[in-house]
Amino acid sequence: MTAPNRPYETRTFPYGTAAIAEAARLIAMGEPVAVSTETVYGLAADATDSAAVARIYAAKGRPSFNPLIVHVPDLAAAERIAVFDESSRALAKAFWPGPLTLVLPLRPDAGIAALVTAGLDTIALRVPAHRAMRALLAATGKPLAAPSANASNRISPTRAEHVLASLDGRIALVVDDGPTKAGVESTIVKDGAILRPGPITASELRAVLPDGSRADSALPASETAQVTAPGQLASHYAPIKTVRLNARQAEPDEWLIGFGAIAGDDTLSSSGNLVEAAARLFDALHQADSSPKARIAVAPVPRSGVGVAINDRLARAAHRG
Ligand code: TXA
Ligand code: MG
Repeated sequence: MTAPNRPYETRTFPYGTAAIAEAARLIAMGEPVAVSTETVYGLAADATDSAAVARIYAAKGRPSFNPLIVHVPDLAAAERIAVFDESSRALAKAFWPGPLTLVLPLRPDAGIAALVTAGLDTIALRVPAHRAMRALLAATGKPLAAPSANASNRISPTRAEHVLASLDGRIALVVDDGPTKAGVESTIVKDGAILRPGPITASELRAVLPDGSRADSALPASETAQVTAPGQLASHYAPIKTVRLNARQAEPDEWLIGFGAIAGDDTLSSSGNLVEAAARLFDALHQADSSPKARIAVAPVPRSGVGVAINDRLARAAHRG
């Protein structure tokens, strides 16, 4: 007897010809399959098949507004789906195949199911290096949408057993190729900024970005990650008004929260003391919200010591859904 929430007898095949053939057969039928990548196990489905993509969301119990990463075999395939500029092409050439995801403008005629991008006009693309995912891409001939193969809000799987721990009975097949190498999800980059920190570091990215690309790429990753990647939102600290960060002076309609040499209407710490600034942060945001100005601007705060936490909270405050 099959309980409604466990509609599958989940099978685990070791990586090999038979496993990939069976995985490709299931994917052609619209069934998602768990497969190893170099970062974490992914739950892969044909990204051009909206019913198949819907089954990913169903298996994971994932909110449908959280967009998925699409895996492709090479840069040429990626360029048929998204629009690359000079910087993104440089990153792709340097780090693909590998644990880098690029968020790029989606080509409307790419044939990608709208559910994959959750209605955004951008798409997250990556060319994986791992033999199992690469073999599956080759066998299906399809772009494969694949989030981490775990139930929503559970830890990402780095072994087949982890996949089974949350998805047993919810998917048809796991292609087991042992523990993953990187162990954390791919670095996500959009417009030269890191949306999610990962195996490829900020300094590695910077080393290949052409001169004159976004200065924001100098940001340590973790401070922007939870803000700009949909589905990683945590806006508990968001004021009602919009917040502009790293402001050196106020626009006419802005209440400027200063720091150090930047005075503003208020200051986190006129002496540039980070401990004092942390203690004052939420109070300053509350005061800014109730000020006569329509918007809030905040001076740059160094990302050292407790400044990392300050910048994290400021980034959340600046998020607008
Ligand atoms: O290493 C990885 O990237 C793994 C393996 C399986 O490839 N995949 C993975 O996918 O971590 P997932 O779905 O767990 O994470 C997708 C992340 C989410 O944080 C989502 O918000 C972000 O990518 N994302 C997807 N499309 C986006 C877009 N258009 N703009 C911004 N962020 C996007
Ligand atoms: Mg995940």
